[in-house]
Amino acid sequence: MTIRAVVRGAGHYLPARVVENSEFEATLDTTDEWIRSRSGIERRHFATETDTTSSMATAAAQAALADSGLEASDIDAIVLATSTADLTFPSAATMVQAQLGMTGGFAFDVQAVCAGFVYALSNANALILSGQARRVLVIGAETFSKIMDWTDRSTCVLFGDGAGALVLEAEEAAGEASDRGILACDLHSDGRLRDLLYVDGGVSTGTSGYLRMQGNQVFRHAVEKLAATAHTAMDRAGVTADDVDWIVPHQANIRIIQGTAKKMNVPMDRVVVTVQDHGNTSAASIPLALSVGRARGQIKDGDLLVTEAIGGGLAWGAVVLRW
Ligand code: ACO
Repeated sequence: MTIRAVVRGAGHYLPARVVENSEFEATLDTTDEWIRSRSGIERRHFATETDTTSSMATAAAQAALADSGLEASDIDAIVLATSTADLTFPSAATMVQAQLGMTGGFAFDVQAVCAGFVYALSNANALILSGQARRVLVIGAETFSKIMDWTDRSTCVLFGDGAGALVLEAEEAAGEASDRGILACDLHSDGRLRDLLYVDGGVSTGTSGYLRMQGNQVFRHAVEKLAATAHTAMDRAGVTADDVDWIVPHQANIRIIQGTAKKMNVPMDRVVVTVQDHGNTSAASIPLALSVGRARGQIKDGDLLVTEAIGGGLAWGAVVLRW
């Protein structure tokens, strides 16, 4: 017998403001056609005046709790992946804890940029396997619109805002690949690649800064690293590409998603794709895709999923789980 961290519920929140590609044509030397063909993005949601990373995270958490049939008071820990917390501190996670009315447990943020949600899942899994928590809210939430340079057409058309959440719960299992829950995790980073993708602000500059990205260089690393980490996680889980029902990838660019699926020998009709509607929501993109994939009826109980993501750091990783 072993313990597995099993998904009990999923939920998401998207801000009401939807911005189509064509809106950028008024202020930037760009076109809907360029954005669509290079990235697969058609529209994205941007936070309104009342949306913050913590408020969106709370809304997603409430939806996931409702889906799980659990109350906030049942939760032992909150692990929140974000690079755009409302303030430098306290963590967005403790703000969510307060907004949910939780008076017990513990909460902290994980910062691994677009790979944040796979890092958060891996951390939540470790908390559950070590017995430090039985029920964990794992959230990805971002307000990347706050760190966009609106004069930089090579970045500002690519990102969006939103939040997604899962409720994980400890469950006894056989210790086999047929178990429900998280079966394997694989994480990597290489800090030598920081200049490819970073924000040029922080406590050292006294500003929150803007996102800077050498997109074609990130692209070059993405497919190879994502396919490799997914394979490692699948090997650890004792599963093969034929067993996979859904790849739920980080939603940065449809060409990265297609290239990675091809390298993994999984056809695109077994890939959950939301990039056209959300853009790149960084750490929120995988939980958003999980929740939307569930709502669309794509992800069913017992399905085997592989999530994979890469982002600033560079940091990347994959998680294999059975829903
Ligand atoms: N509209 C029109 N032209 C544009 C735009 C735009 N919005 N943006 C850039 N261009 C131009 C460039 O200036 C360049 O022009 P030039 O040839 O005259 O110099 C040309 O388009 C080609 O630019 P590339 O950057 O080479 O285009 P590419 O095909 O690589 O697509 C993109 C760019 C979409 C950014 C792609 O490289 C990409 O998706 N990269 C990966 C990004 C990513 O995955 N990030 C994930 C992590 S995000 C995180 O961690 C926060």
